[in-house]
Amino acid sequence: MSAHAFAHPNIALIKYWGKRDRQRNLPAVGSISITLSELGTQMRIRPDADLSADQLSVNGEARDSLLPRVSACLDRMAGASRLPARIESEANFPLAAGLASSASAFAALVVAANEAYQCDQPQQQLAQLAGAASGSAARSLYGGFVELDKGDTDIELQCLAPAGDWPLAVVVAITEAGPKPVSSGEAMEISRKTSPFYGRWLEQQPHDLDEARSAIEGRDFERLAAISEHSCLKMHSVMWGSRPPLIYWNSATVACMEAVREMQARGVGVFFTIDAGPQLKAVCLPEHSAEVEKSLTQVAGVIETRRCGLGEGARITSV
Ligand code: PMV
Repeated sequence: MSAHAFAHPNIALIKYWGKRDRQRNLPAVGSISITLSELGTQMRIRPDADLSADQLSVNGEARDSLLPRVSACLDRMAGASRLPARIESEANFPLAAGLASSASAFAALVVAANEAYQCDQPQQQLAQLAGAASGSAARSLYGGFVELDKGDTDIELQCLAPAGDWPLAVVVAITEAGPKPVSSGEAMEISRKTSPFYGRWLEQQPHDLDEARSAIEGRDFERLAAISEHSCLKMHSVMWGSRPPLIYWNSATVACMEAVREMQARGVGVFFTIDAGPQLKAVCLPEHSAEVEKSLTQVAGVIETRRCGLGEGARITSV
């Protein structure tokens, strides 16, 4: 049976960095994210008895190098004796560039596979399966503000507020469209083994999660801005303190941060967050999003901007 699913990427406000179990891909810390609208991955899975192995295309091109991770995810879902499948993934934004493309891809993959192989798994189980493939992907199963609790044995997901309840906007400033030099999985291991700040990062995460949860509950933008920027800069400090250092920013990333600071000084409701890549995401009040986008477009080195709202979780689609 052929199945189609669509999922949006998500960006973490309270970041996930580090794994406690590499085998099961379990995170060392919980995290809180927002699911974006507009950007997304459309996934199609067609099990086919005539195939001898899975086939994967991404944006119309065969991508055999990504196949082992995708096939392993399907095996975990439907068993290794499942039918091979044609898997077609189409994303409407740059891949592997710190824009959470693996999050939307694996969230869409597990939702489509659940239907295609008739696995009938509940959403919490789909989140485990997506998370086993890419830590942040579990969060894209849900819409709006999402918390991932690292749990004792398994991760647990919950929606803290649906997208429509606090409709923030996000302007993504793309400063480099190419893939990142070091994958986040590899980089997290380097940080865990070598960064002198890693232990403090783990210790402080419960406090940051509490603070963000309260800010979201109280719809307190300033409070959410302060703790989100702190979490982002702390994660990058862990990376910078690693050996070798993990520096994902470029000069345009820093110039975008300065532009956000300048807008904040003028009373614009905006804050930044940056993931394992040089793109800056400016989270803002919807009434300020046009001004934020205009300002970031003018920053030297910004190639393009994308304006999004908050979106829904991964879902089955008809095409
Ligand atoms: O899910 P991964 O393995 O691509 O790791 C994501 C890590 C960050 O994007 C940097 C932070 C996060 O919580 O999404």
